[in-house]
Amino acid sequence: MNFFDVINTRRSIRRFTDSIVPDEVIQNALDAATKAPNSSNLQPWEFYWFKFSQKKAELAEACLFQGTARTANHLIVAVSRTDTWQRNRDILVQQMQATEPLSKDLRTYYYKIIPSLYRQDPFGLFALSRFLIFNIIGLFKPIVRRPVSKNDLFEIVTKTTALACQNFMLAITAQGYGSCPMEGFDEKRVKKILKLNSDSRIVMVIGVGDPASGGIFGPQFRVDPNLVIHKL
Ligand SMILES: Cc1cc2nc3c(=O)[nH]c(=O)nc-3n(C[C@H](O)[C@H](O)[C@H](O)COP(=O)(O)O)c2cc1C
Repeated sequence: MNFFDVINTRRSIRRFTDSIVPDEVIQNALDAATKAPNSSNLQPWEFYWFKFSQKKAELAEACLFQGTARTANHLIVAVSRTDTWQRNRDILVQQMQATEPLSKDLRTYYYKIIPSLYRQDPFGLFALSRFLIFNIIGLFKPIVRRPVSKNDLFEIVTKTTALACQNFMLAITAQGYGSCPMEGFDEKRVKKILKLNSDSRIVMVIGVGDPASGGIFGPQFRVDPNLVIHKL
């Protein structure tokens, strides 16, 4: 399939057959997911892959027994994290330094700017100082004004993780299978199954399988492009 065939073929599949989706298909799609563009290359995502385990049944229950969760051959939970940036930064820097010394600009970016944006403390002091600095400097010149709070940080890591999810789903379509993203789940229960802490968020759960007949609920409806595409 060429790129636009993949885009036009992908649909949300709400029911799958019992056919097995080979692990290789999921592995290829996960590789595609981790190639997604991501903020500062800090890769704040995690993917939990459920196959035929008791845990998969528990997860389907936490996804409110939706058809796609019940019948999916594989379930992938995409998680965004605000607490992996230091680890990932250090790994990245090590990789970069394997080929050439880290430039002064990159050192400043990863060891001064990123920590000043990502650091959180229980009393919100970092957030308050960021708020003040952004708003004072912003009076005089354009400046990036977020993240201030931990919620802003969650927005950043979640945005990035959603892009990885899209890569994943398109890669599933490109290999001839179907998927459906879900945000209809009980986050508390999903996090309990995965033993995740409060620095993580469940972005979506994605069901993968061989589409059953009737698994697509109808034609693809979209609003008029003129309502959402603004040419300036
Ligand atoms: C973040 C997100 C969450 C979604 N959650 C659900 C869900 O819980 N259950 C479901 O059946 N579909 C879910 N969908 C699928 C949408 O309903 C679907 O993408 C939309 O209706 C357009 O249909 P299409 O994907 O076939 O083009 C979700 C989609 C996204 C992007």
